[in-house]
Amino acid sequence: MIKTYRVGVACASCHVAPNPDRPPSDPNNPGWENLASAIGNQYLSEGKVFACNVEKGGFFYEELAAQPRGTSDTSRIATDHINNPNAINPIFLLAERERIAATETLGPHLLASLGQEHKMPVPHILKDGADSVGVPGAALRVYVNIGMFSEYWLTRHNPLLGLTPQQPFETGYAHEHSVFWRATEQRVGNIAAFFRKLQPFHLADAPGGKEFITSDDAVMTRGKQAFAENCASCHSSKQPPPGLDAHSPEGKAWFCEAVMKPDFLKNNFLSNDRRYPLTTIKTNSARAFGTNAQAGHIWDNFSSQTYKDLSPPAELEFYNPFDPAKPIKFRPKDKHTGPGYYRVPSLISIWSSAPFFHNNALGKFTGDPSVAGRMAAFDDATEKLLWPAKRLGKDSIWRTQEDCTLRLRKEFIPEPLRVLSDADGYLKIGLIPKGTPINLVANLDPGRIAIGRSGG
Ligand code: HEC
Ligand code: HEC
Repeated sequence: MIKTYRVGVACASCHVAPNPDRPPSDPNNPGWENLASAIGNQYLSEGKVFACNVEKGGFFYEELAAQPRGTSDTSRIATDHINNPNAINPIFLLAERERIAATETLGPHLLASLGQEHKMPVPHILKDGADSVGVPGAALRVYVNIGMFSEYWLTRHNPLLGLTPQQPFETGYAHEHSVFWRATEQRVGNIAAFFRKLQPFHLADAPGGKEFITSDDAVMTRGKQAFAENCASCHSSKQPPPGLDAHSPEGKAWFCEAVMKPDFLKNNFLSNDRRYPLTTIKTNSARAFGTNAQAGHIWDNFSSQTYKDLSPPAELEFYNPFDPAKPIKFRPKDKHTGPGYYRVPSLISIWSSAPFFHNNALGKFTGDPSVAGRMAAFDDATEKLLWPAKRLGKDSIWRTQEDCTLRLRKEFIPEPLRVLSDADGYLKIGLIPKGTPINLVANLDPGRIAIGRSGG
């Protein structure tokens, strides 16, 4: 580190958690040997850690209280007006992921110092595959997001509130003007090298883990075949030879053979690292619609042209809490939403990281890092994964637990909205009654509504 380097938050606070193969006997007092470097902090209570002084009675308190454990909203500070707390996923076998990376066209903001080229293979980093300018660029973006060269970053957006249009964080400008950026740029290869070394945690190696693995060969073979037929086309980095479509019947036949080989799981990233549209994946859409990596937004320089040019998925259908018989139809418009894709997550060590999905919403949260605790969460999540009727349905909508109000200090809101503030200098929204869906309020973009509709 150079002397004047200012650190915002340590990566470890969100990425380190108990080691699944060496669980601590007391989770509150782990030894170093009980911790894993980049498993993802599955137990983080983000509101309690980063916003412990937020008071009850305000809407923000309710929003944080509803946030699932083990998640962090990485687009909270440079906000895109979508409440998107996400699971902090483990990072494994980066080298294998780089090997299968798809070639994409990058934009005009190439930085030769980061090894960026006009067309190059890029892993699809982040849940929506938005970070797509190569590993060094993606890692640097995180440093910016947690405080590096904040004197520039904070001028490109209105932190936490948004309400005004974002401007791109220009990597070329940072390279030229920031010694922090350049020092990190020189060292970012080290963190990539570290990620490339991270190895899976196997259930068989965990204390008592073997007891959870069937010893019946017929059951194991049936499971492998089911995986080959339904999952491996997306969840494997070992893919059929070029020219053979992984999703075709011939592709399935190839997988049925491949999964039986003793080394199928060895060095398999268990993902093809591709993006698929919401119409195929059908999980909660919010994260896929994140806009921060769109052209002209804060992370513009960190997403490829290929990402920006993705065509929005066809019409989507949503559950309507007021009248389930009338589903809400929504046709994404490219200007107002992100592209609407999820990249396939790796299933490495998936036994240890339930609940599932990008928002950590599928399955019960046990909060117990023992092998039995993790397996209880895994069993519950897996049953719901394969049996959608058992999912929470409308009960998965986050709601306010108490009446509350949303109060924004006048100084922090854009000029045209200030006329709406009261004598105490606050723009007040509310009373928001108990039981209101959190995202009905949290996902509002008041700038667009108030200014766009009436011009004042
Ligand atoms: C405040 C919590 C937080 C901190 C601090 C944090 N991260 Fe993350 N990180 C996350 C979350 C949440 C995700 C998943 C976000 C997503 O995919 O949309 C993530 C994802 C990542 C990924 C992408 C993983 C993948 O598979 O695509 C990398 C790489 C990463 N972080 C590296 C870092 C580094 C390096 C640092 C320190 C400079 C850091 N993170 C600090 C919360 C954090
Ligand atoms: C078309 C590609 C595709 C196929 C086929 C597919 N998946 Fe996935 N899978 C995805 C994507 C994309 C996600 C991320 C969804 C999200 O987070 O919202 C995902 C998420 C998951 C997760 C959650 C991972 C985590 O870290 O939380 C599990 C577990 C999973 N899939 C298992 C399976 C199984 C088992 C099958 C076969 C029965 C399967 N998938 C078939 C694309 C696919």
